[in-house]
Amino acid sequence: MSCTIIDGKAIAKELLRELKEKTAALREKGVIPGLTVIIVGEDPASLTYVASKEKKAKSLGFNGEVLRLPENTTQEELCKVIDGLNADPAVDGILVQLPLPRHINKYDVIRRISPDKDVDGFHVINSGCLFTGLPGFVPCTPKGIIKLIESTGVPIEGKHAVVLGRSLIVGKPVAQLLLDKNATVTVCHSHTGNDKAYTKSADIVVAAVGKPGFLKGDMIKPGAIVIDVGIHRVDGALCGDVVFDEAKEVAGFLTPVPGGVGPMTIAELMENTYLAALKRLV
Ligand code: GUN
Repeated sequence: MSCTIIDGKAIAKELLRELKEKTAALREKGVIPGLTVIIVGEDPASLTYVASKEKKAKSLGFNGEVLRLPENTTQEELCKVIDGLNADPAVDGILVQLPLPRHINKYDVIRRISPDKDVDGFHVINSGCLFTGLPGFVPCTPKGIIKLIESTGVPIEGKHAVVLGRSLIVGKPVAQLLLDKNATVTVCHSHTGNDKAYTKSADIVVAAVGKPGFLKGDMIKPGAIVIDVGIHRVDGALCGDVVFDEAKEVAGFLTPVPGGVGPMTIAELMENTYLAALKRLV
């Protein structure tokens, strides 16, 4: 079975190229998209992620800023910072990098962000819109995953899609987006037990379990589309939730780690920020 590796890096690059052009046109109308990313504490991976979000925003012609707050910031202090950004007309998108320190309630913090500036799409209003089919911000990773699946040219409609994982960031929203595209969706999670019984009949598998090498070759239906959302460092090397070398012998299409879902997430964040800025014109 020959497997096509889905080039997320190239697909994201094209999306960003188009976005840069559209941003230039928006700037001519006097609107500069503004993205503010807040990070609390010093988690090394999170610091890297926020720095790349800022860099990407600036490269598109956005105003990109990172607010680095100390680990001992209180929830009240963080909410005050968010209130200030909600009221700032130059800020179109606000993103609070997760995870937050344990003493802060992430749900309260996310709810504090104006839904119109919630470019992560995590606010209950935006999740509610997604699950009722109303317009709103769609979370970045799930939005990117759908584009990666669509890049294969294989129609989603009528297919059996299995989502491994039920997180707020990936599992639940991607299951809803697949449902919206008329797939039959199964969501497996930590209590499912025999995941293979489901994945083996799946035309599309989205692996977002957070465990390195969870999806093995013998769990995949020949020719399936396999999207690997995981990113882990094992013995110094990056790998995903899928055993790549096994999967590529069985799957029809497969995303690599790195270079698959990751670049799409950041591109979609930029798109959501651009869409937030567009609202200034109406
Ligand atoms: N941490 C890991 N992924 C994400 C994401 O998509 N958004 C935010 N805010 N934090 C994250």
